[in-house]
Amino acid sequence: MQALAARSLCQHITRGMATSVTRNSPINNITVIGSGLMGSGIAQVAAQTGHSVVLVDQTDAILQKAKERIATSLKRVASKQYPDDAKAMKQFMTETMSKISMSEDPTSNIGSCDLIVEAIVENMAIKQKLFKQLDEAAPQKTIFASNTSSLSITEIASATDRLDRFGGLHFFNPVPVMKLVEVIKCNETSQETFDSLFMFANNLRKHPISCKDTPGFVVNRLLVPYLVEGVRMLERGDASARDIDKAMKLGAGYPMGPLELLDYVGLDTTKFILDGWHEKEPDNPLFNPSELLNSLVKDGKLGMKTGEGFYQHKK
Ligand code: 3HC
Repeated sequence: MQALAARSLCQHITRGMATSVTRNSPINNITVIGSGLMGSGIAQVAAQTGHSVVLVDQTDAILQKAKERIATSLKRVASKQYPDDAKAMKQFMTETMSKISMSEDPTSNIGSCDLIVEAIVENMAIKQKLFKQLDEAAPQKTIFASNTSSLSITEIASATDRLDRFGGLHFFNPVPVMKLVEVIKCNETSQETFDSLFMFANNLRKHPISCKDTPGFVVNRLLVPYLVEGVRMLERGDASARDIDKAMKLGAGYPMGPLELLDYVGLDTTKFILDGWHEKEPDNPLFNPSELLNSLVKDGKLGMKTGEGFYQHKK
């Protein structure tokens, strides 16, 4: 019965998102800590590609919200994969959901965990505290990775005694759609760990790239100054928000303009990244704070998640 279910999931995976089902990979059982947009997306794509996932967050209420988010996203994936087959669609969703268990304990099932991916709040002290606790509980083999957007992986890893088994896995929002994963190799990350993380990203049917542990890695280092330059343009009154966004979509082929994307990612997230870099490099004009961004964040206008940012959104 179990073999049948596994074969059927493999068939779904082969037809759909994934073909390689973690074969030859040492990473099969993963724990994702933090069930927000990024964490739930990572858990979803891992389950879709045949991995067993434990998704961890602080309360059951938060986890139930993540479960609903995953179910909604899976429905979009399934309706594309099985447009004319309601039964197959339902089966794909049920089988994928069955690969994900929820827990409020970060060390739940840690004995069999091959990889822990952290996607919690962007706070160095909180991340270090969590990883220290995990390091004491996890077996030797377990690889640790952070999905931080802008903090130093090396600094996070310094709270542990497994610098050789620590790296970065940086995903993009929306995780089920965006194809890139940045795989970050710190000076102390072993080649074996890096290769395992890279293979894991491949097995998620993503396109990994390799990068060093530098602020913002590749994408955010280019993207964040561009987004903030869009805000400065609006502040100067060079063009309206709608025209700035229209310009970048129709003139540069971007799927969203900078102000739309800021609303999508969250104004607080971008402000946090910018402030951190400004503190480290106060003379770099690319990282100068923006008054408009600061005041919108101060007023709680964080973008889509609060219903208002540069635009009004339906909640
Ligand atoms: N789950 C599953 N599928 C989803 C989805 C989700 N959450 N969101 C969108 N999709 C699918 C839709 O089903 C649709 O599939 P189809 O084309 O096969 O029918 C496809 O994606 C397009 O979605 P929509 O038709 O709803 O909307 P759009 O065509 O406007 O695309 C978008 C939405 C994919 C978000 C696109 O606008 C886009 O790519 N925007 C840019 C996103 C981006 O730049 N992300 C990176 C942000 S930076 C970051 O994350 C780093 C962090 O550290 C800050």
